[in-house]
Formats: sequence, C-alpha cells, structure tokens
Amino acid sequence: MKPYVYLTKTVPKEVQELIEESCTLGMWEGKEPISKEALYENVKEAEGLITSGISINKELLEHAPRLKVVSNYSVGYDNFDIDEMAKRNIIGTHTPFTLDDTVADLAFALILSSARRISELDRYIRKGKWHEKDAKEIFGSDVHHQTLGIIGMGRIGEAVAKRAKFGFDMEVIYHNRNRKPEAEKTYGVSYQSLDDLLASSDFVLMITPLTDETYHMIGKEEFKKMKSTAHFINVSRGNTVDEDALIEALTNGTIAGAGLDVFQKEPINEDNPLLQLENVTLAPHIGSATEIVRLNMFKQAAKNTIEVVHGRKAPNPVKELKDI
Ligand code: DGY
Repeated sequence: MKPYVYLTKTVPKEVQELIEESCTLGMWEGKEPISKEALYENVKEAEGLITSGISINKELLEHAPRLKVVSNYSVGYDNFDIDEMAKRNIIGTHTPFTLDDTVADLAFALILSSARRISELDRYIRKGKWHEKDAKEIFGSDVHHQTLGIIGMGRIGEAVAKRAKFGFDMEVIYHNRNRKPEAEKTYGVSYQSLDDLLASSDFVLMITPLTDETYHMIGKEEFKKMKSTAHFINVSRGNTVDEDALIEALTNGTIAGAGLDVFQKEPINEDNPLLQLENVTLAPHIGSATEIVRLNMFKQAAKNTIEVVHGRKAPNPVKELKDI
C-alpha cells in the first residue's frame, strides 16, 4: 500500500503528480485555512504532512499516530514543537536555499519603500493630494552610502548584504549568534554588538529565526537605542519584535519608519494601530511569494516528504531533528 501524505493547502498539479507517483495524496481544497477539526481528521492515517505555519504541537501529534515526517514549505520552522516531534521520532524538514534571493529582494523593497516613503506617497497621490504638500514635505532619506545593520547573518542576511554592499555602496554591519568570517571577507561586513549596531544603523533589518532567544529581541529599550532617523525592517517573524513597542516608537518619533512583512498575528487584526500609521510599509507575509519560488518550495517539501515516507533520508531536515 502506498503511504498516505496530507497537504494542508492546494498546490499546483505538477506537485500533486510528483507526490502521487509513489504516495496516496489527500489535500485541503478549501479557500479558507484548514480548521483544526478537519486537520485532525485528515492526519489520522497520514505518514507525511506537508504544511506551513500550522502549529505542530502535542495535541496535533496525538491525532497523527502514523506520522513520520512534517515537511514545511517555508524556511522558518518556529511552528514545530521540536521536543514533541523528537519524542515521537518525527522528522521535520523545511525549504532552505530556494527562497534566499527572493526574500532578500523583498527586504530591499521594504528598505527602499520605507526610506523613500513609497507606500505613503502612493496613497497621497491616489487621494488627489499631489499639490497639497510643499515639495519638502515629501522628501525621504537616502539608502545608498548609508549604514545597514543586519540582525541574523544567515543565507538571507548574506544575500541582503551583497545587494547593499555592491548595489548601494552601503556600509553593512551585522549581529549574529556566531561571527561569520566568510561573509566578512566576501561582503566586507563587520560584526557588532547588538547595542552598537542599533546605535549606528540607518536601517535595522531583522532576519533572524524565531526561537526562545529571539522572541521579542527588539523592544522598547532597543528602539530607544536607535537613531530617530532610522528605519526598522522586519522579514523574519512578527514575534522577534515587541509589536506594541514598535507601534509606540513609530508613533512618538523614536524611529522614522518601518517596513514590515511579518506580524505578531497574521492575518493582522483590523484594529491593529499599524494600519493607521503613515510611516509604515506593510506587506502580507510575501517574502517568498513569487510563482516560481513557491512552486519550487512545494516541490522541495514534496521531495522531503517522499524520501522519508519511503524510509530514506530527507534532503532538508531541520538541524534539531536531523538525526532521528
Ligand atoms: C519562510 O519561508 O519562512 C519565510 O517566511 C518566507 O516568507
């Protein structure tokens, strides 16, 4: 009998066919996100689960006694309860490499939009207000030759550093758990303590994974250490930042602006004060959202699953669960 694999989202036909070559596939076809009840019902027989963002916790795992692998179509895997998965010998996989440049492009789009006030001025033109402001009132700030501070120097951080250094002549500094000598040599980036980075950056970019250590890593005190002209960009996870402190910093002028792809709660609540602030560019978690990259991520997640359900090694296990 073919192993049963469940997908919590409808994926392109060619990904379905890839899985169906050697597995039986079940797939959520609703437009709305899958409900807890439907998920629990569908994972009962599943040996492989392909998903993203859904919390893989004890309760879910208790409904999935046959599960061997949870394969995220995302690079982040903060939705995995690593201890619970390890206890049950369940491998977790993700999709590194495929999306690095695409997320780096989005980070740069947010840097540019925040500095040059693109989304704010787009709204202003649409409202027919072009002539209402004095030319000076629509000035932004330069990006080229400014200082970019990257928090989290992984592959995506390096891809942003490359753009900043060689495309925009920026000075690039970084903070990371470990020094990255190779990146320092290749991209001319220099390591700084978090406090020094916050104090000297014109743009602070968060691209660190969400872990217990990085939860609310940037809060009220950290915003106070930043320049009042600085822009804060987040393409990591909403919870690496204390969102209330960010809203306060943007409202009272502690910092100049922000570009955000991720939020504490997604989709964002309709009454979130960020929606009222002019000095913020908002994106609905689209870091990897291009057609080709999403297709490749689905294929990568499918291959990770197929290998494990057939008793072989997954190409992209997460490091904490790779030895299962
Ligand atoms: C991921 O894959 O974890 C990123 O959030 C993509 O946007």
